[in-house]
Amino acid sequence: MNHPTPDNDVSRRSFFQLALGWLAGAFATAASAVAAVRFLVPNVLYEPSQRFKAGKPEDYPDGSVTFLEDERVFLIRKGNTFRCLSAVCTHLGCTVNRANKGYHCPCHGSVFNDEGKVEGGPAPRGLPWFLVTLSKDNRLLVDKGETVVADKYLVV
Ligand code: FES
Repeated sequence: MNHPTPDNDVSRRSFFQLALGWLAGAFATAASAVAAVRFLVPNVLYEPSQRFKAGKPEDYPDGSVTFLEDERVFLIRKGNTFRCLSAVCTHLGCTVNRANKGYHCPCHGSVFNDEGKVEGGPAPRGLPWFLVTLSKDNRLLVDKGETVVADKYLVV
């Protein structure tokens, strides 16, 4: 019969301590490898494009201010010129309405003139204008990612 001796106890304890050490080392190595691989993958946020086609120039009557609901902008035609104004209030982001003159925010009462400048209310700055160009297939192309000065027109 084989009884455990004190030496066997010590070697068994040493074995478990060694195994635990190896396990901890392997876990640390695996965690480092995962972190290294994660570091190699870029943190890129893929957002939808800010550009959209707004139809043909002739879709807009001369002198019109057309609200494009999906994009929350006003497309403005005067003669053969086109501009695009944001309809997003610079206060807290409500959609502004076209008034007899200028634009009015229904949420807290900000008022903007025809050029988008603040005339009253809590809005901290005017409504931005967006770049309008013409696409190759002769459609108005608005880029909400690119703001322009108020007097920059697309002439067709
Ligand atoms: S969101 Fe337009 S005034 Fe507050």
